[in-house]
Amino acid sequence: MRSHGQAAWELLLPSVDAPARQRGRALQEALREAVRSGRLAAGTRLPSTRELAADLGVSRGLVTEAYEQLTAEGYLRSGRGAGTWVGEAARARRTDRAGAGDGRLGPGAGGGAPTLGARAPAPAPAPAGGAVGVRVDFRPGTPDLSLFPRAAWAAAQRAVLTRLSHPALGYPDPRGLPELREALAGMLARRRGVVADPERLVVCSGVAQASTLLGFVLRARGLDAVGIEDPGSPEHGRLFASTGLDTVWLPLDEEGLRPEPLAASGVRAVVVTPSHQFPSGISWSAGRRAALLDWARAVDGYVLEDDYDGDFRYDRAPVGALQGLDPERVVYAGSVSKSLAPGLRLGWTLVPEALLGEVVERKRTMDLGNPVLDQAVLAELVTRGGYDRQLRRCQRAYRERRDALLGALTEHLPGTRVSGIAAGLHVIARVPALFGPSERFLARAAEVGVALRPLEDYGTARPADGDVRLVIGYAHLAPSAVTAGIRLVAEAVGRG
Ligand SMILES: Cc1ncc(COP(=O)(O)O)c(C=O)c1O
Repeated sequence: MRSHGQAAWELLLPSVDAPARQRGRALQEALREAVRSGRLAAGTRLPSTRELAADLGVSRGLVTEAYEQLTAEGYLRSGRGAGTWVGEAARARRTDRAGAGDGRLGPGAGGGAPTLGARAPAPAPAPAGGAVGVRVDFRPGTPDLSLFPRAAWAAAQRAVLTRLSHPALGYPDPRGLPELREALAGMLARRRGVVADPERLVVCSGVAQASTLLGFVLRARGLDAVGIEDPGSPEHGRLFASTGLDTVWLPLDEEGLRPEPLAASGVRAVVVTPSHQFPSGISWSAGRRAALLDWARAVDGYVLEDDYDGDFRYDRAPVGALQGLDPERVVYAGSVSKSLAPGLRLGWTLVPEALLGEVVERKRTMDLGNPVLDQAVLAELVTRGGYDRQLRRCQRAYRERRDALLGALTEHLPGTRVSGIAAGLHVIARVPALFGPSERFLARAAEVGVALRPLEDYGTARPADGDVRLVIGYAHLAPSAVTAGIRLVAEAVGRG
């Protein structure tokens, strides 16, 4: 029996775009049609409900319901213990309708699409000369959106709508709802060690908006450039550029920003990711944290601390935020983009007293504040413990996926070294030169449908050795997909 997790994923993906209330039915219809048409052939083993739910980004309950429904209807059958297969009844239909589907996904002659099951057979080679769609995308920075706590969010939303007064639906304080600022300040002080005065906390649309708010304020104060980490997030540069500031790459080493180039750069503001540097994965040393703050005081400058994934640490408690060391020099920014969903566009920034009035005025003129209902719901989640529960749940899932990735790299690409701390949603992997060179490695991976990003995309360095340096995001992928993706790559580069 073969597992066709990815095949099913591709076939069923359009159905999950249906509005929430119709999604279950749409999924069942798509599954039914895939069996009817023969695209999912009799005997095909379906992915587990957990895997498919993760791949599709829907709740597991929806998938379980679809499997149960189609089993009851005879399209599927479930084995004793575990496993769900396309039923024999469907085989008859498929034979009847030979040619209706393209047969690409069936287990019969001609082979199927590569599978993502942990013990799935080796995938068929990519069709000669033809590009394969992306099967496994190791893009960094993406959480698992199927872990979004829909039930808790819905319950909090109901509670909020019941208690919110009519006047509360008017224009909010541009800094955000007081109840949310209170809740976030408490949570951030506790979890991230920041100095969190709710009066200085501004709710905003993610780290991205915190960056542009600060950028506009600094530009208005006469600054013309901001330093960004090299390697770093290209998005930082783009956001600050949109506010009229130039960006200057500042080199990192294994401890953090190097002090001499920083001092020589002439900038008076920098954006940094000290808790889990993006993308290198290091945690800045205490010495470099102190040196950065000394520099900021000496040049009367500011540091934007992007704490984009500081909650996720797998080997020990997360290192506290830099802001706690000097809240008058560090603007702290975070969001729910990694913990809940980036689509919420909900985040926060803690602003030094000297910049607060200007930042709040920018926020007011930009959008008059974030949506009240979402703010109130998040406040409810944070105060009632739902947010902490969500973080614990993600932490467990992401640790498992990271372990799967490290295991797969060791097994399939021996000699690969992973650097950086055990944290966040991505790792840096250095694959030995014998699997390279980098362009060939990436091209071969792409040919079998695995999208990988080279570290060179995130900075100015062009290493002279032939090693392949990769930024690999794993959090949005089921462990089986992580393993299968790396195995596909290894086979494609000739060392399977
Ligand atoms: C390093 C880094 N900072 C900031 C952001 C943007 O975050 P937000 O969604 O909070 O605006 C991202 C997005 O992936 C990121 O990777």
